[in-house]
Amino acid sequence: MPNFGLGVFAPEPQSDGSLIIRILVTGGAGYIGSHTVVELLAAGHEVSIVDSLVNAHPAVLPRLARLGGRDPDFRQVDIRDRGALGSVLEDGFDAVIHFAGRKAVGESVSDPLGYWDTNVAGTLVLLEEMRRTGVRTLVFSSSATVYGNTAVAPFDETLPTAPINPYGETKLAVERILEALAVAEPEWRISSLRYFNPVGAHPSGTIGEDPNGIPDNLMPYITQVAVGRRERLSVFGDDYETPDGTGVRDYIHVVDLALGHVAALDYLARNTGYRVHNLGTGRGYSVLEVITAFEQASGRKIAYEVAGRREGDAAAAWADTRRAGEELAWRAQRDIDAMCRDAWNWQRQNPNGYGNEPTA
Ligand code: NAD
Ligand code: WQD
Repeated sequence: MPNFGLGVFAPEPQSDGSLIIRILVTGGAGYIGSHTVVELLAAGHEVSIVDSLVNAHPAVLPRLARLGGRDPDFRQVDIRDRGALGSVLEDGFDAVIHFAGRKAVGESVSDPLGYWDTNVAGTLVLLEEMRRTGVRTLVFSSSATVYGNTAVAPFDETLPTAPINPYGETKLAVERILEALAVAEPEWRISSLRYFNPVGAHPSGTIGEDPNGIPDNLMPYITQVAVGRRERLSVFGDDYETPDGTGVRDYIHVVDLALGHVAALDYLARNTGYRVHNLGTGRGYSVLEVITAFEQASGRKIAYEVAGRREGDAAAAWADTRRAGEELAWRAQRDIDAMCRDAWNWQRQNPNGYGNEPTA
């Protein structure tokens, strides 16, 4: 249990000496948000979720209650709806974890206004309503995509940022707003977490990643091939300057990522101001290595063909994780086998994701 400093979040002391804080999770019905809610509930915190459900299924909610042992409070709210969001915040929170947003790179190219509206204007509404209601502690979902394609891995947090698509631009814009806010109003406590490639699922197989339509990302595509929903994977390029020619990424188990948020809250209890941390494992795997690891974990053969490179892809990207290790006392624990096993366990139990369950 993290040790939240009394007076920072004014947490509620329990009979066993642990402390409860009240946390609002925006986008808490989504992939990373739902896994984080489980870990927050497990740590004993009180959790409220706001989510518009634009990219989540209501069937996740009873599953969260099952995993967490109690119902998280849920309100279907769009973060851009100032009145609705403000009235939720008036209930009183110690901290906000802000996952809500749109995340598809290709879609951001075809709908830049929509991406700036949700990701940037939506965050402005959240910040203004947090300030109005006296909440000044925030963990923000940023992305390794802010590094762009020019730097050579490993990426540390001091590298210049250079996003190459509107999605990445919106993440960087929010980081800049947060940094400026913490300078202007030093009582804020703000953490931007730059996630590398989140994969996997809760080990129970109860919650997991359920993309709409054809998956953009490697792991959900592989699991859908394994379960028979897709015929074969296209490997986007085998002529990169990497050991086997395919792209190398820093895949991180979503449960480790969720625990990184618990660690970031603990950090914010001890520190004011603004700080960026990478969340990754610090090691890269190629597409072919992921396929092999998945085949071993699942016992299924993954049919694939080598296709051309995907526009905008880097050859290799992985994190320098030292800052998170030193300052958050957090380290990813789960290896590629656990990532593949848990991704498969989720997909096998839920071949159609949340779609085949009645809504909550
Ligand atoms: P997700 O789409 O599963 O979760 C986002 C949630 O936000 C969804 O439940 C969606 O319904 C909700 N949402 C979207 N717009 C909203 C709005 N206007 N108001 C209220 N709710 C809204 O995505 P995820 O993978 O869980 O990502 C969570 C966050 O992490 C996002 O901000 C994303 O940009 C960031 N991130 C994700 C990855 C990744 O690879 N998954 C990597 C780096 C950063
Ligand atoms: C991984 C590797 C592909 C699909 C994206 C976003 C990034 C962040 C995380 C939000 C690459 C290869 C993929 C396929 C393949 N999201 N691949 N066949 O591109 O590293 O990052 O998700 O912030 O912003 O860009 O992840 O899973 O799409 O790709 O060969 O069908 O798998 O070329 O080498 P990426 P990914």
